[in-house]
Amino acid sequence: SKNKRIVSGIQPTGNLHLGNYLGAIRNWVVMQNEMKDGDSCVFFLADLHAITMPQAPDELAENIRNMAATLLASGVNPERAVFFAQSDVAAHSEMAWLLNCVARIGWLNRMTQFKEKSGKNREGASVGLYTYPVLQAADVMLYQATHVPVGEDQKQHLELARDIATKFNNDYDDKIFTLPEPIIQKTAARVMSLRNGSSKMSKSDPSDLSRINLTDSNDDIAQKIRKAKTDPDPIPENEEGLADRPEAKNLLGIYSALKGEALGDVLQQFAGQGFGQFKPALADLVVESIAPIRDKLSSFKNDPAEIDRILSQGAEKAAVIAEKTLDKAYRSMGL
Ligand code: ADP
Ligand code: NA
Repeated sequence: SKNKRIVSGIQPTGNLHLGNYLGAIRNWVVMQNEMKDGDSCVFFLADLHAITMPQAPDELAENIRNMAATLLASGVNPERAVFFAQSDVAAHSEMAWLLNCVARIGWLNRMTQFKEKSGKNREGASVGLYTYPVLQAADVMLYQATHVPVGEDQKQHLELARDIATKFNNDYDDKIFTLPEPIIQKTAARVMSLRNGSSKMSKSDPSDLSRINLTDSNDDIAQKIRKAKTDPDPIPENEEGLADRPEAKNLLGIYSALKGEALGDVLQQFAGQGFGQFKPALADLVVESIAPIRDKLSSFKNDPAEIDRILSQGAEKAAVIAEKTLDKAYRSMGL
């Protein structure tokens, strides 16, 4: 069968936390490490997407380096995966323009995320925010992605990419673009706030006790878990016993995700214990998982030139692939 090429982007943000790690960052490392011979991974920082919303330039520049450092510290290996910043490869912007001329306004009008992100002030949103799904299509089509990991909120955009690729192939040349398939993430770990089991762990939560930052010290981690909200009941034997206990479910879910064990197995192991007993075990596991990332992250932060070097080498590798597709697309259109 055909080799897989997985293409995935992530927006650069600061203050990364355990939710970002389990919900996004770690997936890249897993995909990269599970590649078979002949498969490839193309991973990029979606910095051109970041500017569709207002951004402070200094902060964006810092977030790009910080995100790159975090991904590298978490195990993204630039020898195994093509890893770069989107804005360093001009083909993304160029291809997006070609595809803007293939995509139909009616298709974009159906994108629900634009409606959500532009909110009440739709007339005041940037044009970039509106056509951002077309840039996303360019991002994956340039590399002839066979597979693209998508969360629930991005399924519609991948469908759009397939529609654009199909129309381009029909209108110009049927051998130009591969139609990307979604990789629907299994039980995409959704980590909740440590203070309240009904809102997600987020950098925008004003309480620092609500989240484990990837930069937290071991003591901070232990203290946050000690203070995490729970209930007085013991750990149940099965998942039904967690039905109305979101805080308990969240802590056990974090344990399960970090340990790589099914929630049911974790429950079996701790059944009957109170959270006073479980929390130290969880704290040890979180420290064991986060400390090596935090320490690598801090050494990258002391060496920004190294990050820039890795990103520019990655961009060179990416450009070789991307420009080949871009050339074909230009020529097929008569340009
Ligand atoms: P935040 O809510 O902290 O602002 P972002 O919206 O910047 O996080 O999300 C960046 C990435 O991390 C996205 O892929 C998102 O799905 C993932 N992510 C963010 N928060 C969580 C969470 N609490 N649990 C799981 N994944 C998360
Ligand atoms: Na750049």
